Amino acid sequence: MHIDIQLIPVTPATISSTSVVVIDILRATSVIVHAISQGALEVIPVPTVEEAFQFAKKFPRGTTLLGGERGSKKIEGFDLGNSPREYFAEKVKGKRLILTTTNGTKAFHSVSSGREVAAGSFFNIGAVGRRCLDLGQDLLIFPSGDEGRFSLEDTVCGGMLIDRILTEGKRLVTLTDASQSAHVLYQRFKENLIESFRLSTHGRDLIERGFEEDLAYCAQVDITNIVPVFREGVIRGHLLPFLSLGSTGVTPVATREGKGEGE
Ligand code: MLT
Repeated sequence: MHIDIQLIPVTPATISSTSVVVIDILRATSVIVHAISQGALEVIPVPTVEEAFQFAKKFPRGTTLLGGERGSKKIEGFDLGNSPREYFAEKVKGKRLILTTTNGTKAFHSVSSGREVAAGSFFNIGAVGRRCLDLGQDLLIFPSGDEGRFSLEDTVCGGMLIDRILTEGKRLVTLTDASQSAHVLYQRFKENLIESFRLSTHGRDLIERGFEEDLAYCAQVDITNIVPVFREGVIRGHLLPFLSLGSTGVTPVATREGKGEGE
């Protein structure tokens, strides 16, 4: 198995036989994983606000929520912003979510030709690792970056995914210089993931804009076994029926009522 990571979010060349994991820790893929683990039916990631409004018209009233951000803030006329803490079962269960964010939702479209395109975050890192190993394809990790630039926090998360796969130790894994670098970066921050958020441009922007609590929230590791997969424009969840890779057990994501996923 060969693992590469796209350190800069540029549309890759040929990935039709490659598994792809999109990562936007702060905060699009954290929102997607959280919403689906809380019972959202599906997520439709769209690049623009206009497309989000157009899409919403296609579905019966009351079945669909509009979510996302521009400049990290909730968009006028939308139901929800882009904090995973807004996406609890009481709001999202049984609903379709149309999501538009600055970087994350566009990233899915950049890699849509991948063999399987999954959403990764710290919330589901072990489950995603397990899924990649089960598929057995070469893997491209695709951090969504920060408006075309390198993003520290997404690369650290990519490094953790690489670490989980290497730790399984049952197959030959080869790394590119880029994926080696992501793995080294993860070693630097593994005891304190939030430190990498605080050093990152987007993490600092979120603190300045009043979203500091999202940093600690998005740093939770292995809280769900859901692997959201993007296919034909729609993201739907797959729940792995067994323990995810490298975790000692999964604590279900708590709801506001204190009940866990699937309870
Ligand atoms: C993005 O897609 O760029 C992010 O999710 C932005 C954010 O949450 O502020």
